[in-house]
Amino acid sequence: MPNSAFADIVSEIRRFAGTAANLTALEEFCVSIIAARLPYYNWVGFYMLDPGDESVLALGPYRGAPTDHVRIPVTEGICGAAVAQGETVIVADVSADPRYLACSIETRSEIVVPIRANGKIVGEIDIDSHRRDAFDAEDRSFLEECAAVVGGFLERGGLRAVRARWTGR
Ligand code: SME
Repeated sequence: MPNSAFADIVSEIRRFAGTAANLTALEEFCVSIIAARLPYYNWVGFYMLDPGDESVLALGPYRGAPTDHVRIPVTEGICGAAVAQGETVIVADVSADPRYLACSIETRSEIVVPIRANGKIVGEIDIDSHRRDAFDAEDRSFLEECAAVVGGFLERGGLRAVRARWTGR
C-alpha cells in the first residue's frame, strides 16, 4: 500500500475530527473511510473501555462481518492483550496465536492499536485481514496516527465524550 493512501486517510480523519459532533460520529467516519479505501482491511472496528467497568472492552462502530465479541474482558483476546501490554499488537497468523478470539473463519491476521487520552488507554482500533501477515510497520504507524487523532479529540472534548455514548448525555 503506498504511503499516500495512508496519508490521505489520516488527513481526512484529522479534518473530520475538527468538526465531529461526538465520538461515535468520528468513529463511524474512521471505520467507513478505512474499510472503503483499504481492501485488505476486511474488518475495521473500535472497542472502547466501558467507563462503568474498565475491565471490559465494548464494541463500537465497525465495518465487516457481525461479531459475537461485543464485550471482551481485558484479560482475553488479542484485543485484551493490546490493553494489557499497552502497545500495538500485530498477529501475522491468528491460527497460531492461542489468545485469538475468532470473529470470522476467513480472518488470517490482525492488528490492534491502543487509543490513549491524557496518557491513559481508553480503547483501541481493531483490524482483521483475510490475508496472512497483512500488517507491517507502515500499517502500524498509520493506525497509531488514527488512534492519536481520536485520542486528541477525546482530550479536547474531555472524557465526557466516551461517557455520553453510554448515558446519552
Ligand atoms: N479477534 C479479536 C476479537 C475481536 S473480533 O476480531 C472482531 C481478539 O482476539 O481479541
